Amino acid sequence: MSPTPSCNCFPGATVWLTGLPSAGKSTIAQATAALLRQRGRRSEVLDGDEMRRTLSLELGYSPRDRQRNVERIGRVAEVLSRNGITALVPVIAPYARVRDLVRSWHEKSDTAFLEIHVAAPVEVCAERDVKGLYARHEAGEISGLTGVDAPYEKPIAPDLRIRSHTEPVERSAAAVLKLLIERGLA
Ligand SMILES: Nc1ncnc2c1ncn2[C@@H]1O[C@H](COP(=O)(O)OP(=O)(O)O)[C@@H](O)[C@H]1O
Ligand SMILES: [Mg+2]
Repeated sequence: MSPTPSCNCFPGATVWLTGLPSAGKSTIAQATAALLRQRGRRSEVLDGDEMRRTLSLELGYSPRDRQRNVERIGRVAEVLSRNGITALVPVIAPYARVRDLVRSWHEKSDTAFLEIHVAAPVEVCAERDVKGLYARHEAGEISGLTGVDAPYEKPIAPDLRIRSHTEPVERSAAAVLKLLIERGLA
């Protein structure tokens, strides 16, 4: 009888960090990746900015292009997580319907999909303004900024809501790790 292949590894998961620009998505994703590395877990950060420079290079910011961008990243995340990687996805993903679509792909392959709302309010995000987007909008140089004059549909029942405006990043990342551990995913 041939031996049954066995694996003592943890299942993968997609951890989608949704929120406004400058809410703290990328920072929390990187901090969480570091915690997972310490535990010997393999993770990959699919950062929205990097994906826009690569996978979605030709896409703009129309509703249709935003949807396509999130769908593409969602497909990649699903493939990674289905194969045992923890995919951390700091991507705005403004439309609830599209986030639900990506979730449904994960359900089809019985792969965990965690939706985390990085919930700093727009006033705090505009104050942080990591990439200067809010200032450029204020100066009339850009339009269609998510949460200002383009829609952002907050998750109604996320797996976790992080108050990234009232706590340090270490605490936010620890909360993500705790959630993964509770769900048997880390
Ligand atoms: N709890 C927190 N979580 C994440 N970022 C925080 C937190 N508190 C303060 N910050 C700061 O807010 C900024 C968030 O920037 P970034 O992670 O690039 O946002 P996003 O990826 O959502 O656009 C960083 O300068 C970060 O240091
Ligand atoms: Mg970011």
